[in-house]
Amino acid sequence: MSDQVTVVGLGYIGLPTAAALASRGVNVLGVDVDQRIVDLINKGEAPFVEPDLAVAVSGAVAMGRLRASTTHESSSAFVLAVPTPMRDGKPDLSYVDAAADAIAPHLQSGALVVLESTSPPGTTRALSARLALHRPDLRFPHDHPDDADVAVAHCPERVLPGRIMIEIVSNDRVIGGVSDRCAERARELYEVFTQGEVHLTDATTAETTKLVENAYRDVNIAFANELSLVSDHLEIDVHEVIGLANRHPRVNILNPGPGVGGHCIAVDPWFLVAAAPEQTPLIRAARQVNDRKPHYVVEEVVSRAERFKEPVIAVLGLAFKANVDDLRESPALAIAEELGRRGVGRLLVVEPHVDSLASPALQAADAKLVDVTTAIAEADIVVLLVDHESFRRVRRTSLRGKVVFDTRGLWR
Ligand SMILES: NC(=O)c1ccc[n+]([C@@H]2O[C@H](COP(=O)([O-])OP(=O)(O)OC[C@H]3O[C@@H](n4cnc5c(N)ncnc54)[C@H](O)[C@@H]3O)[C@@H](O)[C@H]2O)c1
Repeated sequence: MSDQVTVVGLGYIGLPTAAALASRGVNVLGVDVDQRIVDLINKGEAPFVEPDLAVAVSGAVAMGRLRASTTHESSSAFVLAVPTPMRDGKPDLSYVDAAADAIAPHLQSGALVVLESTSPPGTTRALSARLALHRPDLRFPHDHPDDADVAVAHCPERVLPGRIMIEIVSNDRVIGGVSDRCAERARELYEVFTQGEVHLTDATTAETTKLVENAYRDVNIAFANELSLVSDHLEIDVHEVIGLANRHPRVNILNPGPGVGGHCIAVDPWFLVAAAPEQTPLIRAARQVNDRKPHYVVEEVVSRAERFKEPVIAVLGLAFKANVDDLRESPALAIAEELGRRGVGRLLVVEPHVDSLASPALQAADAKLVDVTTAIAEADIVVLLVDHESFRRVRRTSLRGKVVFDTRGLWR
């Protein structure tokens, strides 16, 4: 069997993983269904912005350690990093199923399959069973824990966008095997590039651990967001309240914001709710609090705009968090789009990490993408939605005379 490792899905998680393995001398085949992504990578280019990724990809491709394709080959290990979104209120595992169906014909005895995608409890065992249906000639660990031909494990990813290339190496990893032997086999692969500690457990515990991490973050953000509503109601400054409360030695409240977005924190808690609906009222309520926050921000902007005849509104930030170009599930984007749909005023959008406004709603509203200085100079109302570093440097004097709505407390 070749010593090649295949990484399936070359997005924010798969490509950095492929580059990290390749930089340690592993021969990596990256497989993606998107020909554009495959072509870019084979030219040594990264298809999205992430610090240090482009240089890692170009180096790995130039060294001949990383190549990309839309078709599969036999490999010693397959790492699945495909999307696992929610669809119609349920976890959508169709991408994992499709990836399993695609790799199954290429499995050989001794191979390892690792699911990196964030997944509902039980998915890794189900993956093992699905592969077994394709390959009755091989033994799989869900019913052959001690003498399986193929090892199957879950190794969830907990990197922070913007720091992926650092954290993919330095973070501790949790590896859950369908059997103990599977976990040990996966450890060998991850120890090639991981400098953090590797913690072994069973697959369901690993799946649940990942979901718990993001549900913990979501509940804590919801608490901060709820406090911002309470403070607005009481006409006090939430950032001052939180700053003072955090002077207590055992209190550490997070910063409120315009909502919660991205591919993970806004999605993963629902996987826990779906797995244990009766046991998760708090996690569900936190999701709802965070999901309602963008609507609240829109209403606040609308009411501030009422005193202007033809308000010009500067919207600062569209990304789902600071210093990234990722607009997926972004509350800031949703707010900008809703302001556009409601025709609240002339929209000047600032997002330093994109070159154009791809959103049809923003195009239909004739929103203009401009630099921060222009937006603030022309605006009546300045709405800060994302705490990008470049916004921190805005001269406070330029905000004089403007109605400022700073949802992140960046300019306090
Ligand atoms: N982005 C993050 O910060 C992050 C962090 C932790 C965990 N995760 C999890 O990692 C997983 C992947 O997320 P991502 O952000 O990398 O997604 P992504 O959308 O950036 O990338 C997924 C890639 O998979 C490809 N793909 C889809 N189906 C495929 C198939 N059948 N075969 C080959 N390629 C296929 C897509 O074309 C895409 O390029 C998800 O489960 C996500 O929840 C993401």
